[in-house]
Amino acid sequence: MNKDLNLDENFWNERYCLNDTGWDLGQVSPPLKAYIDQLTNKNLKILIPGCGNSYEAEYLLEKGFKNITILDIAPDLVKRLKSKFQLNQNIKIVLGDFFTHKAEYDLILEHTFFCALDPKLRKNYVETMKGLLTEGGKLAGVFLIRSLKCRALHLEEEILSI
Ligand SMILES: C[S@@+](CC[C@H](N)C(=O)[O-])C[C@H]1O[C@@H](n2cnc3c(N)ncnc32)[C@H](O)[C@@H]1O
Repeated sequence: MNKDLNLDENFWNERYCLNDTGWDLGQVSPPLKAYIDQLTNKNLKILIPGCGNSYEAEYLLEKGFKNITILDIAPDLVKRLKSKFQLNQNIKIVLGDFFTHKAEYDLILEHTFFCALDPKLRKNYVETMKGLLTEGGKLAGVFLIRSLKCRALHLEEEILSI
């Protein structure tokens, strides 16, 4: 990871404003789609932190899930998401920092959020996730074992260790 990068809300917001989003799949992530497809309880309280363009949330809505919260730190992105989902009662769109978010969820879905964080925050990530899950709640996500050589983030190959 480039040590000079400050991965704060301005950094992320600028990525979205400049359309410099090399990580964006443009569709629901296939492993998360497969995970969602086997869920039967549509009332699960679900959080997607670092939601980005939120294809997974769109898919959950399509499948009839009724209690979805998406959270991201980038203000312009969140403004766009609010306008995109504005008429849908089944989704809550939150502008905020994952590390200070307070609530409890049955399921947390994440896609390339953990791997985009400063490695110093990994322990805090695990503790925050634990605090956000109900007893028996689950975290399911796409975690890159090796971080992407991502043009937008200037990430270098690195073995993740937590
Ligand atoms: C690599 S992008 C992944 C976005 C999306 N999940 C995807 O796969 O397209 C990481 C996302 O995490 C968000 N983010 C970074 N730090 C955050 C934090 N502390 N709290 C909430 N969101 C954060 C960024 O704004 C960005 O949307």
